[in-house]
Amino acid sequence: MMASQTELHSLNNRLDAEAQQMATTSLRSLMAAPEREALVLKHDDLWVDITRQPIRANSLELLYELANARHLSEKIDQMFQGRKINRTEDRAVVHMGLRHPDRLKTDEWNRLVSFVESVRNSAQIKHVVNIGIGGSDLGPAMLAQALGPVCDGPDLHFVGNVDPAHMFDTLARCKPEQTIFIVTSKTFTTSETLANAELAKSWLIRNGISPDEAMVAVTAAPDIASKWGIDKGQIFSFADGVGGRYSVWSAVGLAVMIGCGVDQFSEVLAGAYDMDCHFQTARFADNLPVTMGLLRIWHRQFMGRISYGLMAYEQRLARFAAWAQQLEMESNGKSVDINGQPLALPAAPLIWGEAGTNAQHSFFQWLHQGTEIHPIDILVSRKPYLRGEDALSKASHRQLVINAIAQAEALAFGQKNTENLHNHFAGNRPSILVSWDSTTPFAIGRLLALYEHITIVSGFIWGINSFDQFGVELGKKMARALDEGEGLSHFSKAAQSFMQTLD
Ligand code: F6P
Repeated sequence: MMASQTELHSLNNRLDAEAQQMATTSLRSLMAAPEREALVLKHDDLWVDITRQPIRANSLELLYELANARHLSEKIDQMFQGRKINRTEDRAVVHMGLRHPDRLKTDEWNRLVSFVESVRNSAQIKHVVNIGIGGSDLGPAMLAQALGPVCDGPDLHFVGNVDPAHMFDTLARCKPEQTIFIVTSKTFTTSETLANAELAKSWLIRNGISPDEAMVAVTAAPDIASKWGIDKGQIFSFADGVGGRYSVWSAVGLAVMIGCGVDQFSEVLAGAYDMDCHFQTARFADNLPVTMGLLRIWHRQFMGRISYGLMAYEQRLARFAAWAQQLEMESNGKSVDINGQPLALPAAPLIWGEAGTNAQHSFFQWLHQGTEIHPIDILVSRKPYLRGEDALSKASHRQLVINAIAQAEALAFGQKNTENLHNHFAGNRPSILVSWDSTTPFAIGRLLALYEHITIVSGFIWGINSFDQFGVELGKKMARALDEGEGLSHFSKAAQSFMQTLD
C-alpha cells in the first residue's frame, strides 16, 4: 500500500525527533543498555557490529518503517526480477545474474574460461595489462590486490590515467613478447582508454608484435571495438544492463580471472551470490545491507553528516575505499529523484577512506578531535589469510585486529579531560565494525556485494536512480571542445590563455 505524503511526513518528523534524542544521548550510555550485543548482526561468519551507532531499538524500528514506506522490498524484488528500474536509460539492472550459479553454464562464461586457461597455460605470457578507467579499472584493480594470495598467474597491471606516464611506467616493466593487453571499456568510447590502447598498440608494432596476437577487448559495444581494430574473435562482451561500477563480476574481471584462475574467481562469484540470497530473503532486522543502507540514511538525513569513511584494516583491501567511492558517489551523488524532481534532502555522502592501521597515522586525529562527527565503517578479518603463516605473522595480525577494535572503542567512548582540552576526546564518534573469519575469495565477493547492496538500498530509500551517471558528461564535452578548439570564446579567459601554452 502506497504510504501517503502525510504518512511519510509524519514518519520523517518522528525520525527527526528520534535523531535529536540520539544526538544528545552518549554512545557510552547507549552501549551500556541491556542486550546491546543484540545489535551485532550476523550472516554466517560475516558480522556487522552496530553497537557503536547513535541508535536504539526505536530508531531501528522507525528506519525499517521508513524502508516499508519507501517500498524497499518491492524495489528489491523488481530489481532481481529484471524489471527496467533504470528508467532514465530504459534498462534493467542485471549484474547480480553474473554471480548466479547458472552463469557458469553459459557460452559467455565458457569462452572466458578457455581464454583464461590458454593464457595461464602459456609459457610465454608473463604480463597482462588491463587498460581501462572508472568501473573498468577500480573493480578489477582492487580485486586483483585483494586476491593477492591466490594469484599464481601472470603479473597483472592496471593502466587507467591518460597521463602517458601511467602506460610508460607499466611498459617499462614488461617485455613485448611476454605481454597481452585487455582493453576494457563498456562503451569503447572513453578517451583515456582509447589513448592508452593506441600507446599499447604502437608499442607492440614497434617491437614487431601483431596487435591481433596481443590485444583483446572487454566491452558492451563489440561493434565499436571491432571497428577500432580488435579481432572479433578476441572480444568478450557483457550486457548493457551491467553498470560500469557494478561490472567486476563480468568479463571486466577477465584480468583477475587470468591472475587467480577460474576456480578462485568462481569462489568470488559464489560469495557475492551468497550475499544476494541473504539480501533477498533476510527480514529487515537481520538484513545486513538493508540495515547498513538505512544507517547511511540515518547519518546523512537525520544526523546531518556529510561524509562516510570506509577503513579496511587489511592491506590487500587498500583500494576498497577507492572502489566504493565510485560505487556510492557515482550511483547516489545526485540532486534529483528518479522522476527528475529535485530532492528535498541531500543524497550520497562523501565516501572516503584508507587502509588501517595506516589511516591511524594520517587523519584519525581529525576523526577523534575534529569539530564535526564523521561516521565510519571499520572492516577487519578476524584471522590472517596468509600462505605459511607463522607465530610472528599471527602476532602482527592480532595487532591489526586489536587496533581496529581499539579505534572503534576510542572513537565511541572518548576520554574526558576538562583541565587540558588538548587532551580531551569528546567521543560519541560512531563506527560500524564489519568483520569476517578470513579474507578468502568467497569472503571478498560477499563483502563487495554487501557494499553494492548498501548503495542500492540507500538509493531506493532516497528515491533516486542509482544506475545512471549523466553527471560525468559535461566535463568530457568541454574537454572535447577544448581539444578541437571549438567555441573557445565560451571558456574563461584564464582557460583560453592556458590553452595558448599548449602545443
Ligand atoms: O565517465 C564515467 C564512466 O562512464 C564510468 O561510469 C565508467 O565506469 C567509466 O567512465 C569507464 O567507462 P567505460 O567502461 O565505458 O570506458
